Amino acid sequence: MNVKHPSRAPRCIALAACVLAASLSGHAADGSAEQFAEGKKLFMQGAVPACALCHTLKDAGSEGAVGPILDELKPDASRVAKALRNGLGNMPAYKPTLSEAQILALAHYVAKASGGAQ
Ligand code: HEC
Repeated sequence: MNVKHPSRAPRCIALAACVLAASLSGHAADGSAEQFAEGKKLFMQGAVPACALCHTLKDAGSEGAVGPILDELKPDASRVAKALRNGLGNMPAYKPTLSEAQILALAHYVAKASGGAQ
């Protein structure tokens, strides 16, 4: 399902699309300040298990040492999203527990906060 511009979708074509559009409407998915804030919240405690448990990221004040230090890795948004969708090594996949909008918010947040977004 490709829902790039839910706010501009003329109508909901399926229940799933309606739910996704509704969940996105309050959280702009366009690299806005709201999306950044949403990603930060998910990073610190919203995602289960929370990213902060395993990763160090200065902006989030986290010091997890299981996974790579994101301030040093500086992943871009697509690299973060890929790791979240598929999992990687000891990192769990978040596709079963996070919505696509949440994955995109996290990807945007981590890329921007770590300096990986140019
Ligand atoms: C249980 C610990 C754990 C949790 C929780 C966790 N990670 Fe990871 N993460 C890892 C490990 C370990 C790796 C390195 C995997 C490897 O390279 O084999 C990693 C790798 C990554 C990478 C690098 C991917 C790449 O392409 O090299 C990113 C970005 C990342 N994690 C972001 C996140 C985000 C965002 C969350 C929260 C939604 C999260 N991680 C939650 C352990 C974790």
